[in-house]
Amino acid sequence: MERTLQHITSIAHLTRSDAEHIFHLARKFREDFHQGIHQHSLEQKVVVNAFFENSTRTKNSFEIAALRLGAKVVSFSSTGSSVAKGESLFDTLQTLDAMFPDVIVMRNSLSGSAEYATRYVGASILNAGDGKHEHPSQALLDALTLLDVYETLEGKCIGIVGDIVHSRVARSNVLLLRLLGAKVFVCGPQTLIPTDLSTWNVQTCTTVNELIEECDTVMALRIQKERMDAGLIGSAGEYRKFYGIQMEHIETKPSLYVMHPGPVNYGVEIDFDVANSHRSLIRKQVTNGVFIRMAMLSVLKGRE
Ligand code: NCD
Repeated sequence: MERTLQHITSIAHLTRSDAEHIFHLARKFREDFHQGIHQHSLEQKVVVNAFFENSTRTKNSFEIAALRLGAKVVSFSSTGSSVAKGESLFDTLQTLDAMFPDVIVMRNSLSGSAEYATRYVGASILNAGDGKHEHPSQALLDALTLLDVYETLEGKCIGIVGDIVHSRVARSNVLLLRLLGAKVFVCGPQTLIPTDLSTWNVQTCTTVNELIEECDTVMALRIQKERMDAGLIGSAGEYRKFYGIQMEHIETKPSLYVMHPGPVNYGVEIDFDVANSHRSLIRKQVTNGVFIRMAMLSVLKGRE
């Protein structure tokens, strides 16, 4: 059954059929786009893009997605707003909502902030990343990219390597990949592995070599320096040696694909030549991001 949703704050709230409906819409939008067919379904709608944290891909992708559906988009960023004068998240949300937008796409460094926002606004909330909690649109665009390669994720082995503990991308991806029937493996320095990992239903590998041996595709993550205390990892060189994806990895496993949500630190979690090789899905992830976000905006109910 296809449902419309009041908010999308977490993959945990989606069913497999919600996810499949979003993939179906995203593929349809992609096909129509390549045939020059324009969409107008959100023509009378106003979308506020409220980014309290830095972003290049997600912010522009949501903006372009809304514009491609005919919506009007207002972009808010905390620098240059009253947040810089000390205004609280609560007041900022209530102020934006008092202008009656239909959707608020929100990124904030507080885990749980998107769910918090749903309690105080009439607009639909779309979580564009809340602290280290979740990043649903990233997981959906990653899954669509994988489905373009494999058709089904049932029984596929997908590895995630790097800063797992601070990563909303890892949390959302684990939930969605498992919902779609994939086996998930994680790998990273002990200091960057969550202490509650036993509840995640994933398997672990000690080094990237082992992870690559086990997996069909490996996704590298950026070290989230902005979310960690100093001293959780050694030097970049040492990190690369045990957890970085290098040319020899893709040379020794010709079927391997690599992914990264971006932004990338070349020579740390992934080398430049690997990220820009034909085995990299990184640009496809970015392109799919727009179509997935069009689909996510389309399944929202809008103002209550
Ligand atoms: C990720 C994020 O912001 O969580 N980036 C993104 O949205 N493409 C990952 C990151 O910042 O490392």
